[in-house]
Amino acid sequence: MTTPITQSAPDDDDRNSFIYVVAALAALNGLLFGFDTGVISGAMLYIRKTFELATLFGHSVNAAYVEGIIVSGAMVGAVIGAALAGRLADRLGRRRLILVGAVVFFVGSLIMAIAPTVEILIVGRIVDGIGVGFASVVGPLYISEISPPKIRGSLVSLNQLTITSGILIAYLVNYAFSSGGEWRWMLGLGMLPAAVLFAGMLFMPESPRWLYEQGRVSDAREVLSKTRLESQIDAELSEIKETVRTESGTFRDLFQPWVRPMLVVGIGLAAFQQVTGINTVMYYAPTILESTGFADTASILATVGIGAVNVVMTVVAVLLIDRTGRRPLLLTGLAGMAGMLGVLGVAFYLPGLSGGLGLIATGSLMLYVAFFAIGLGPVFWLLISEIYPMEIRGTAMGVVTVINWGGNLIVSLTFLRLVDVFGQSGTFWLYGVLSVIALVFCYQLVPETKGRSLEEIEADLRETAFGRDTDDHPDVAKTDD
Ligand code: BGC
Repeated sequence: MTTPITQSAPDDDDRNSFIYVVAALAALNGLLFGFDTGVISGAMLYIRKTFELATLFGHSVNAAYVEGIIVSGAMVGAVIGAALAGRLADRLGRRRLILVGAVVFFVGSLIMAIAPTVEILIVGRIVDGIGVGFASVVGPLYISEISPPKIRGSLVSLNQLTITSGILIAYLVNYAFSSGGEWRWMLGLGMLPAAVLFAGMLFMPESPRWLYEQGRVSDAREVLSKTRLESQIDAELSEIKETVRTESGTFRDLFQPWVRPMLVVGIGLAAFQQVTGINTVMYYAPTILESTGFADTASILATVGIGAVNVVMTVVAVLLIDRTGRRPLLLTGLAGMAGMLGVLGVAFYLPGLSGGLGLIATGSLMLYVAFFAIGLGPVFWLLISEIYPMEIRGTAMGVVTVINWGGNLIVSLTFLRLVDVFGQSGTFWLYGVLSVIALVFCYQLVPETKGRSLEEIEADLRETAFGRDTDDHPDVAKTDD
């Protein structure tokens, strides 16, 4: 007689750890994003020495202008990538688009690492950026759709954690290669996480929600059976069934009356995440810090410190976001950002910045980043992966992400000019006022999504839009915990 073998179904713990593996691997999308954001400022110092930046395609041009193109080329690419990503994610599937994004990013990094001319370097930056554009949409989208509701906030926010880690790693890579000025290594190292992401995703499952939409119900069930308890699968499948339409949505469906409020929320959050100035710190921290009396190397080290604060506070957000909910973190974060920008403006306004005031300025710059990292940073990417109906989720996230990258581009191109016109204090106050407006916007319009399944959120939003919810703000999570 043979003893029955009980290895076919994984036990609960296996299933739990598997979902963490899937999310952590998919979160490497954020690492590509962050590495790309952090690496260029360091590499630029040495690119200047390799190439004659005052000529482009045989014409004499302003070297600063060419530098601007090299830096912003990736953001232009990211706008293009994000614009294409939504439709591609709906057509190809989430997993396949992650694979494509990793290849595009890899190729872009390779082109940059071996670029014989500045023109080819710019092409590499744009290709790399397209990969980042794909990654920034499909990373949170995939994790959100594969996660169980109770831990979805933490799992999607892993993507923001890897964005911030990517920025920090890039700062460290810059530092490590700075003595030899090896900018090709700095940029080329991006190939490594892209290769790991590609290889790892080959073994990861597709989003069960996308599979169901494609009519592949048994495949969807199989994915759920690997990532959920047996008792939860049927309930989740029937919930998904409720929201799946036979045809996938079009761009015009974004403007249906019941979707429109969430389109406004997504666009508002995308714009506010950028126009409140975070990337002026990410890109220009050494320049800002130099004026507070830090020497060159000290300001680079302090920049690493800022990168570390960003990572640590994002860890705090990952741990809190499914307990406190999204709104408390978002509102606290924005209030803190506004306060710190106010203090920064005062510190830069008063004389004596290179003395004790410089320390206050540096401290408030770090706290400003900390407040971004517990609020607007992770909550933006999480909410846009939660608030759109299944049939247009990819498209809507693509549109909103285009606005985010467009805002990023505009802020980084205008920062130095704003400082010329309004001074550093005026510029910080401007971002501070925009943070206050963002706070009011979020208080009034942003829903709470904690603990709800994506399908419940969708159903609640339909109800709210049809006038059956009398709350002051569309509080989607009224029941749990
Ligand atoms: C933003 C990026 C920013 C990063 C900083 C992200 O959420 O979208 O633009 O560079 O946070 O941590």
